[in-house]
Amino acid sequence: MKNVNVGIVGYGWAATAHLAAINATRQGRVVAVCSSRPLDAAELSAKHGCPIRVYQRLDDMLADPGIDVVDITGLPSLHREQAVAAAKAKKHVILEKPMANSPEEVSDILAAAEANGVQGCVCFECRFSNQFQVTKALLDEGLLGRLHYGEVDYYHGIGPWYGQYRWNTGKKEGGSALLTAGCHALDALLMLMGDEVESVSSISTKSASEFFTPYEYDTSSVTILRFKNGAVGKTAAIVDCLQPYYFHTHLVGSEGSLLDDRFHSMKLKADKGHWSRLSMKMLDSGDVSDHPYQAQFQAFFDALDRGEPMPLTSFREAARTFAVIFAADKSAAQGGAPVAV
Ligand SMILES: NC(=O)c1ccc[n+]([C@@H]2O[C@H](COP(=O)([O-])OP(=O)(O)OC[C@H]3O[C@@H](n4cnc5c(N)ncnc54)[C@H](O)[C@@H]3O)[C@@H](O)[C@H]2O)c1
Repeated sequence: MKNVNVGIVGYGWAATAHLAAINATRQGRVVAVCSSRPLDAAELSAKHGCPIRVYQRLDDMLADPGIDVVDITGLPSLHREQAVAAAKAKKHVILEKPMANSPEEVSDILAAAEANGVQGCVCFECRFSNQFQVTKALLDEGLLGRLHYGEVDYYHGIGPWYGQYRWNTGKKEGGSALLTAGCHALDALLMLMGDEVESVSSISTKSASEFFTPYEYDTSSVTILRFKNGAVGKTAAIVDCLQPYYFHTHLVGSEGSLLDDRFHSMKLKADKGHWSRLSMKMLDSGDVSDHPYQAQFQAFFDALDRGEPMPLTSFREAARTFAVIFAADKSAAQGGAPVAV
């Protein structure tokens, strides 16, 4: 039964992928879109096959009693203002990454949701990907033993051929290589290794290619993490590469290793000289239509039905990832000096 009515803020690339994903869940349906552009409700409804009301002012959409969840897909610099307003209007919130580009903004969003008793879900949808769900299951089965090293890296060239290039090249909206896109890899590393991070150290640089000249910040960074349990990890966030999209994972533990979709486990007594292969759908595209939003939104609506926080990507859990990112960016600004998390 469709009983979770969603209003989407923004009507760009991510919004259209969200729209289809929400409507494909058991409970969710998109009933409104709020955009600074004047949109035609009849046209939008016909295009997406469901009745959609159109708003140009967020306050008007928030006053709509027929909306349960507000889904924020607009520019990062507006995330705090929009998420805090939605929480104050007692709407549950889906928030695209980055949650926001500063620790103060993230903490305001978290505080507003908690003060108003609403649930939040950050679009770290990669946690719901088949690749990371299978990888996590392998870890939970103990096939790699105790992890002491892990790296998850993000390689995705965001150049003029990519829609968000027109705004994420600026420091204000893009923030850093980690904030604008590499956050998915760092978040996946924390999902696999645990999010108890003691300190980070990060350095950054940028490509000499003219495609990336407009960027006002370094578009390649590498971050080394020390976990509280003694393990170490690494995330490269590379948004200025010229190659296919690649989400690289290498985990090393006391019983074996995993490299992307290959692994070796001493527990299986297979030949250590060769990898065994896992059959799973890999995260191999930056196209939002390939991202596992539907599985994530289904989990959010199920959690709302149970009156529980979002599993894996709640505001509180995502804020822990952003705390590590802000510490990494601080370290990079200081030339790589370790920063406590
Ligand atoms: N989780 C992911 O993997 C993922 C992927 C893509 C984008 N995102 C995030 O989603 C958010 C939006 O990114 P996007 O790719 O949808 O960006 P986009 O450039 O398509 O849209 C960005 C904003 O600009 C507005 N906009 C678009 N075209 C417009 C026009 N012609 N006139 C006026 N306004 C216009 C949109 O409504 C939206 O608010 C960002 O926070 C981004 O980081 C996340």
